[in-house]
Amino acid sequence: MAKAIVKYFCKECGHVANKWLGKCPSCEAWNSFTEEVVNKGGTEKKLWGKNPQHRAEPKKIKEIIEGHETRLVLPDNELNRVLGSGLVTGSITLIGGEPGIGKSTLLLQLALNVQKKVLYISGEESESQLKMRAERIGIHNDNCFVMCETSLSNLLSYLQQDQPEILIIDSVQTLSSENIDSPPGSISQIKECTAELLRFAKATNVPVFLIGHINKDGNIAGPKVLEHMVDTVLQFEGDRHYNYRILRTLKNRFGSASEIGIYEMRGSGLREIENPSEILISEREENLSGITISCAVEGIRPILLETQALVSSAVYGTPQRTSNGFDLRRLSMLLAVLEKRCGFQLGAKDVFVNIAGGMKMEDPGLDLGIIAAILSSYENLPVSPDIAFAGEVGLSGEVRAVSRIEQRVSEAEKLGFKEIMVSKYNKGIEEMKTKMKIITIGKIEEAFEYLFG
Ligand code: TYD
Ligand code: MG
Repeated sequence: MAKAIVKYFCKECGHVANKWLGKCPSCEAWNSFTEEVVNKGGTEKKLWGKNPQHRAEPKKIKEIIEGHETRLVLPDNELNRVLGSGLVTGSITLIGGEPGIGKSTLLLQLALNVQKKVLYISGEESESQLKMRAERIGIHNDNCFVMCETSLSNLLSYLQQDQPEILIIDSVQTLSSENIDSPPGSISQIKECTAELLRFAKATNVPVFLIGHINKDGNIAGPKVLEHMVDTVLQFEGDRHYNYRILRTLKNRFGSASEIGIYEMRGSGLREIENPSEILISEREENLSGITISCAVEGIRPILLETQALVSSAVYGTPQRTSNGFDLRRLSMLLAVLEKRCGFQLGAKDVFVNIAGGMKMEDPGLDLGIIAAILSSYENLPVSPDIAFAGEVGLSGEVRAVSRIEQRVSEAEKLGFKEIMVSKYNKGIEEMKTKMKIITIGKIEEAFEYLFG
């Protein structure tokens, strides 16, 4: 009998090696290799020298006739927006998110509301569980079919007889192909199942949604190549303690990759939130001092968050400086800048800084918002809730440009802010098209003057 073939896959980039390696030669990640039995016994097929039967021929790019992508407009406006004004036929969309965030709810709700024939494949829940969930959401589609199946070959053989107009797979980690001997959820299984579904989508023009689990680092479980294979990657996120959820585009071959959709989780499913500022504003009934909204970027994603500060007279000889979610050394630096360059007597004050929602941020673009919050608490004057901040503060008190300013500005605009304070050194800031008023400053004194002067 032929020997089993064991390969080692990098969890980060999908690099394949014949032996275990401590460091991936391709993406340089440490300790990222896992062992997988690819073939229990058999021979690897040689590709070079194979008889050419069905093969593509190279074409001159000038001679290719441009196809027109057709889009299905879904009954969910937020989903339409993140997909880039509708679902492209034949596309494959991956939705990732923490367990219990509402991925299954989002797609089941779509299946129940869209007036198309939809097939929802569940490998995680039983039919009766799906029915219970559907009852909560409300069934408005006579052509919504569900099937509990984990075998890829059974699914594909069913799809050969009868095809839906939209296919939903919950989740890609529960599907498995018999061609691969490793267990469901392993890197080679995920790769193989996605590749088959990709072939199905491209051949039949049926759009496919894949639900993907995420690992403890917040990335979609499985190889990074999975994200390269699909057309669109969406991330569903939110705080467990709040009811609102954000659907974010991470990659989109058919539209912008900086869109967000906002929902509220209710007893009867997800509600689209058309006017996002309603969530932020409803939480603040009266205007309190020491609170500002900062526009940060985490990775490639802009996030608006509440930066809070409290400045009070120190009871003990040594004033306390405490910070939650923001680097304490950076806070000390900002306080020194305020003292030395702007003449605020903070040396005898306790200063507490907090980033609401338990977030931990390293983005220097938060500096301006933190400084504004400190000044607001120091002066005991509130800052208008309609203004957002994004700027890095340097040692001489200058406000410096930050990365991805367009995304920060458009995120603040989407969330309903009327003004944003940024550095005048951001390139192209003057010409930026936005409905918001952009306040450009060069030094923190100017921020003080504008806010409290
Ligand atoms: P679910 O869609 O099962 O999450 P995922 O597939 O991402 O793991 O999320 C379900 C959560 O949402 C669960 O905690 C119950 C809650 N929920 C509601 O609040 N309202 C509803 O109408 C439904 C269907 C679920
Ligand atoms: Mg689920």
